[in-house]
Amino acid sequence: MKILILGAKGMLGHELAKVFSDKDKYEVTLWDREELDITDQEAVDAKVKELHPEVIINAAAYTAIDKAESETDLVYKINAYAVGYLANLAKDIGALLIHFSTDYVFDGENNMGYKEDYPVKNPATVYGKSKKLAEKMIEDINPRHFLIRTQWLFGISGKNFIETMLRIADEGKDLKVVNDQFGSPTYAKDLAERVREMIEENRESGIYHITNSDTCNWYDFAQKIFELSDIHPSLKPVTSEEFAAPAKRPTYSMLINTKLPPLRSWQDALQAYLIETGRIKE
Ligand SMILES: NC(=O)c1ccc[n+]([C@@H]2O[C@H](COP(=O)([O-])OP(=O)(O)OC[C@H]3O[C@@H](n4cnc5c(N)ncnc54)[C@H](OP(=O)(O)O)[C@@H]3O)[C@@H](O)[C@H]2O)c1
Repeated sequence: MKILILGAKGMLGHELAKVFSDKDKYEVTLWDREELDITDQEAVDAKVKELHPEVIINAAAYTAIDKAESETDLVYKINAYAVGYLANLAKDIGALLIHFSTDYVFDGENNMGYKEDYPVKNPATVYGKSKKLAEKMIEDINPRHFLIRTQWLFGISGKNFIETMLRIADEGKDLKVVNDQFGSPTYAKDLAERVREMIEENRESGIYHITNSDTCNWYDFAQKIFELSDIHPSLKPVTSEEFAAPAKRPTYSMLINTKLPPLRSWQDALQAYLIETGRIKE
């Protein structure tokens, strides 16, 4: 099967590249910004048509959520309009388009969480609005697609919350972490493996919610990181208002999965990550 991965050097792209590394089964092309800027419509058209993949996995995105508030045009180009061309192209060449979206497309006010068919409305951030538009374009253009919403990703490539917590603790600084935003930390490796299974199982087109199981707030997540790592920094809970990030995060982000087998718990996934990165022993 011929697969194109865009954003292959990003956190998720890196894990996707690994899960499709079996050369007997997959002929994989890995592109990031240097090989193809997805906002360059002509280049996307020419290069992707020439490659003619059966599956296009788009893990390229503008993901700096706070900075996005002051770079609206660029964010929309990468996260929305480029996805529109990819959806048209996927439809033209009959490819399956796999695209990743986020809990930020919701307003985050529903303390019961969000099933796949919950109406998307009032995202609070530029990032969330751009991802909402991409979702709409994929659904309107309607190539064969998996539109996968996920959240709170951590993975071996790039910056993540776990490494930030451990670095600050290592520097001996006090940590303040918000305790009023709820969601599910998700190991990019587990998500990538589930994507591979979805392709192999020939799942139907549509929206999917994929996160590790069980929910927590960021403070709980930080506590678990330090408990498993046997490190004991000064860690204090704060409210989102006290933390005052430039982009307003959703309070309740639980993405309820009604379509796929659940992934392992975020606690087990975190432990696996800490073992795999050599932070703790098995
Ligand atoms: N991280 C999370 O917690 C999270 C949560 C929910 C959903 N998601 C979604 O999951 C997907 C993957 O996220 P991630 O965390 O793996 O992102 P990431 O680590 O920021 O990686 C994104 C990749 O896309 C590349 N890219 C950016 N603009 C590009 C362009 N114009 N053309 C080609 N490549 C470009 C980036 O290159 P540069 O480094 O050069 O910019 C980077 O390699 C995204 O759709 C994201 O919205 C992520």
